[in-house]
Amino acid sequence: MAEYFKNVLLIGATGDLGQHILSTLLKTTTTHPSQPLTITLLTRSTSTAKFPAHPSIARIHKGDIKDREFLVTAFSGQDMIISAISPYALLDQKLMLSVAAEVGVKRFVVGEFGMDTRDEELTDSVAVFKQNREVLEYAVGVCGGDSKTVGMEYTGVICGAFLEMTLLDGEMGFEFGGREVEIYDSGRKKIEVSRMEDVARATVEICFQPGRYGDQLVYISSFTVSQRDILDALNKVDKKGPWKVVERTTEWLKERGKKRVEEGDMMGLVDEIWAVAFSDGIGEAFSRKRKLVNEEMGIGRGGDEEFIEVIKGIVEEWEAGRRK
Ligand SMILES: NC(=O)c1ccc[n+]([C@@H]2O[C@H](COP(=O)([O-])OP(=O)(O)OC[C@H]3O[C@@H](n4cnc5c(N)ncnc54)[C@H](OP(=O)(O)O)[C@@H]3O)[C@@H](O)[C@H]2O)c1
Repeated sequence: MAEYFKNVLLIGATGDLGQHILSTLLKTTTTHPSQPLTITLLTRSTSTAKFPAHPSIARIHKGDIKDREFLVTAFSGQDMIISAISPYALLDQKLMLSVAAEVGVKRFVVGEFGMDTRDEELTDSVAVFKQNREVLEYAVGVCGGDSKTVGMEYTGVICGAFLEMTLLDGEMGFEFGGREVEIYDSGRKKIEVSRMEDVARATVEICFQPGRYGDQLVYISSFTVSQRDILDALNKVDKKGPWKVVERTTEWLKERGKKRVEEGDMMGLVDEIWAVAFSDGIGEAFSRKRKLVNEEMGIGRGGDEEFIEVIKGIVEEWEAGRRK
């Protein structure tokens, strides 16, 4: 077993999550000074993404992600691939997985980064999660399933919702513009949420623990909270006063999602996710039944005070106009 995965290729480095992973990879010159990484980036030929110049970034491959030959060239010589590819391109990972296994990549971190894909009741209920499961099943097959004959292993990082991004994007019922929240059902259903820097840290830590996390999903969570926990924290830190509450049901949200999709508004798919996430009896907070790897990856598991601090940071970010 390699001492660590030295040659790392990142897909989606300027995306919402990818930019956090890239900056965490670059910081390893300080966090893991005796284990230098050689970082390669992969970007679409149509992309307008701009990448930082950094001595650890050895190469940027720009090309057609559906072209096998392009992938063979980009993936050859890599120890680990991290896919932070857009949710709109999840299925493109199938070809990537095949090529990676073929050219001798040792670890493929698939684009999971969300809800628990092993929870079949949950993935069956939400259209977009079915693609995650399809890719996961493909990864299991490519990596040899039970009869391990290939050298590559897959890992998926399950982290629940990206806390900062979902709130600032007006998801989970919270609308920062109008300082209003739609509370679904009781608002007390607990879900897992993670700070994006924690998700990036867990992902990058896989490079330095090559003997662990192979052929499995790993579970991290920064906080286990309900909508009402988030609202309480917001009301403590938002200097503009208490948020307005509108009571809704998850059934109402599900119907709105359906209608939006019928009208061609893909935000309806997001409604569908939250309608299921906040319904009782499905998609239970995974920290209750899965082993979290927070501790072994050096990621804190936040308590109430830390949560309030994170929410304070999100309010400040909103006030500074950093997101829509
Ligand atoms: N847990 C959560 O709350 C949550 C929320 C959102 C996303 N996620 C997950 O996190 C991962 C990354 O998502 P993200 O939101 O960070 O991705 P993103 O910002 O939408 O896209 C990441 C990158 O993917 C590349 N890409 C390849 N094909 C593309 C296509 N057809 N359309 C657009 N971009 C394409 C682009 O890089 P180039 O321009 O360099 O090619 C893009 O910058 C996914 O697995 C997603 O499911 C989780």
